[in-house]
Amino acid sequence: MKSIDKVTVIGGGTMGNGIAHVFALSGFDVTLVETTQELAENAINKIDKNLSRMVNKEKITEKDKVESLERINTSLDPAEASKDSDLIVEAVPENFELKKKIFRSVDEAAPKDAILASNTSSISITRLAAITNRPERFIGMHFFNPVPVMKLVEVVNGLETESEVTRSVEETAKKLGKVPVPVQDSPGFVSNRVLMPMINEAIFCVYEGVGSPEQVDEVMKLGMAHPMGPLRLADFIGLDVCLDILNVLYDGFRDSKYRPCPLLVQMVDAGKLGDKTGSGFYDYD
Ligand code: CAA
Repeated sequence: MKSIDKVTVIGGGTMGNGIAHVFALSGFDVTLVETTQELAENAINKIDKNLSRMVNKEKITEKDKVESLERINTSLDPAEASKDSDLIVEAVPENFELKKKIFRSVDEAAPKDAILASNTSSISITRLAAITNRPERFIGMHFFNPVPVMKLVEVVNGLETESEVTRSVEETAKKLGKVPVPVQDSPGFVSNRVLMPMINEAIFCVYEGVGSPEQVDEVMKLGMAHPMGPLRLADFIGLDVCLDILNVLYDGFRDSKYRPCPLLVQMVDAGKLGDKTGSGFYDYD
């Protein structure tokens, strides 16, 4: 089984910086790839802030934080950064053409036995794997936001993923203190196939005037013990991301039960995407 020591994380946004954070904190050497020096610095600052939060809560020591940050290098070149990596985790925006460009160059540059993984929440792992010359060493490694907190890594096997690669990624996830759950590639995998219809139904409740966002969320928080109500969670995930995933489910299964609520489409059209734009079902500072 392939042992993983050096990891390249491509993309330093919300998911990417969280993924780099957990790898570095667990002792892996990490190269974090961004498109500009400024974005790379922003990602490191975010990791610094989230590690400080853990120091303040006495979950880790100041020494752990300093050593973790020392284990992270940054790069602006995905191919160069993958040259001596054991595992490459891609966490760039959900755009197939962008991912295709990155995986083509990374596949050429990375060692032949390196594992290529995508953190995609909506694009088929089998389709991404087919971009490369190593579909048997390609896998989904789906983390959840906030990455330092959420225990799950959904390990998504493409049609050709070798079982040795699955085992290696599961072992790596365990070293991060996560719980890997292997599933087969299918639209939305398991996580979003179950989560997104619930969020969509909550939006339909608002759309049809059954309840306000606050009322719908209170029902789910107090009655079902959800840490966040589905509409607060939709804002947290990003309404554009929710819409993309629902469209993947709708197109993938050709089943009307996955049709996105018109209110969700309108909110995305209006640029009200949730936390990241300052407004969605709720307003944020
Ligand atoms: N880094 C490190 N620690 C963090 C953190 C971060 N980014 N964000 C929160 N935390 C820690 C806090 O320090 C706190 O730690 P303690 O328990 O030791 O005090 C803990 O997490 C809880 O945080 P808060 O007290 O600030 O806030 P909270 O109790 O309201 O919890 C939450 C916040 C963890 C986000 C919680 O509301 C929650 O679990 N929400 C649901 C999140 C969820 O469902 N995520 C999955 C989204 S789907 C996805 O990501 C994938 C996809 O494909 C769409």
